[in-house]
Amino acid sequence: MATLIRATVMHTPENPFQSEQAFECFADGAVVFEANTILSCGAYLDMCEKHPDAEVIDEKGAYLLPGFVDTHVHFPQLTIIGAMGLPLLEWLRQRTLPAEASLSGIPAAEAAADLFLERLAANGTTTALVFGSHLLAAQDAFFRKAADSGLRITSGLVLGDRNLLPELETTVGRAREETEELIRRYHGHGKLRYAVTPRFSVSCSAPLLEVCGELLQSAPELFFQTHINENTEEVAFVRRLFPSSRDYFDTYEGYGLAGRRSVFAHNLHVSNSELSRMGACGCSVAHCPSSNSFLGSGSFPMARHIEHGVGFGLGCDVGAGSGFSLLNESLRAYETQMLREDGYSLSPRHLLYLSGAAGAKVMGLDSRIGDFTPGKEADFVLIRPPQSSTLRAVLKRASSCEAALGVLFTLAREESVVATYVAGRRIYTHNEN
Ligand code: GUN
Ligand code: ZN
Repeated sequence: MATLIRATVMHTPENPFQSEQAFECFADGAVVFEANTILSCGAYLDMCEKHPDAEVIDEKGAYLLPGFVDTHVHFPQLTIIGAMGLPLLEWLRQRTLPAEASLSGIPAAEAAADLFLERLAANGTTTALVFGSHLLAAQDAFFRKAADSGLRITSGLVLGDRNLLPELETTVGRAREETEELIRRYHGHGKLRYAVTPRFSVSCSAPLLEVCGELLQSAPELFFQTHINENTEEVAFVRRLFPSSRDYFDTYEGYGLAGRRSVFAHNLHVSNSELSRMGACGCSVAHCPSSNSFLGSGSFPMARHIEHGVGFGLGCDVGAGSGFSLLNESLRAYETQMLREDGYSLSPRHLLYLSGAAGAKVMGLDSRIGDFTPGKEADFVLIRPPQSSTLRAVLKRASSCEAALGVLFTLAREESVVATYVAGRRIYTHNEN
């Protein structure tokens, strides 16, 4: 039987960076779905007429948006959100790597995975590319819990063989064996996929990156994720570690790690040569605005990425990022561009696209999710302004759908997310509203 959800419905069936007609809003609207598939999306009365037998869930007063797609977030870093005062390399050394090393027992890893996955769903995220743990048992626990969560998760064991803590460092042989085992167990199982995940070139020897290239070819449709060009000291360090490489991107490109399913986080301090090559290979960037300002790393050259045809989505980058909310990341992306001299002028419809459809494209899932086109899978987030909130007061006076959308990105956060659906199944319900 079909289900009809009534709410204010907004989505971007086309890309607003390319098309004027990209934004669609139904102030009194509905999305109709059956099993995991969207049947229709439109005005409430039209949908009732078209689907008279559908079960109606009346959420009038709430907002229904496509599920958020997070293209960069770290599983073992939830507990270090808010660790202030340090730039990237010191933040890693003093706060992050010790926290990641402490996740060594299976019960602790399972509890951390449960909490992490619950917070993703509680923030309306339905799909995520997740940087995992360096520790095999913890990463195995994460995949098991991810399978139970109902979320669409792509993740991988993090690899590094230098410049980390000894207990996080692997060897080339172990990296190969453990990654192959996890690919066998989880890649393509349900909504799980595997991403080969070297931490960054600072922590990887040339032979380890070479093995990553081989692993990436070892099964169909594997993903690749890493960090790049985040911090000027990090970029200089990579230059010293790889003196014969052209630039940072070359340390990945040269090992066959740059392709359509490769996602590079940050990419702030990037040259035009690197951008041209990234555009040519079809790889994507995870833009993590709250992390970039929190660590003082720099700001994202969005217009240059667009000029060079390099696709990007948003990432919350917990624990450097300030929480799991892609509503927040969207606002931070907007603010970042406002502050830049060459800033791209973003409107609420761009933010809506960036929070979902853009990430779906990065993840190679744009034919299946990202908007409410009939035939796509029913992934969405339901947002209801809490009773006595600034959000509710401002929304009441919003002059148009798109103005309301701007208000949502500015003021709505975790506490306003009342339900999250993946493939037509409600995987999260907020109990306190
Ligand atoms: N570069 C290498 N590791 C990390 C990490 O955990 N977070 C961020 N923001 N950058 C990194
Ligand atoms: Zn990261």
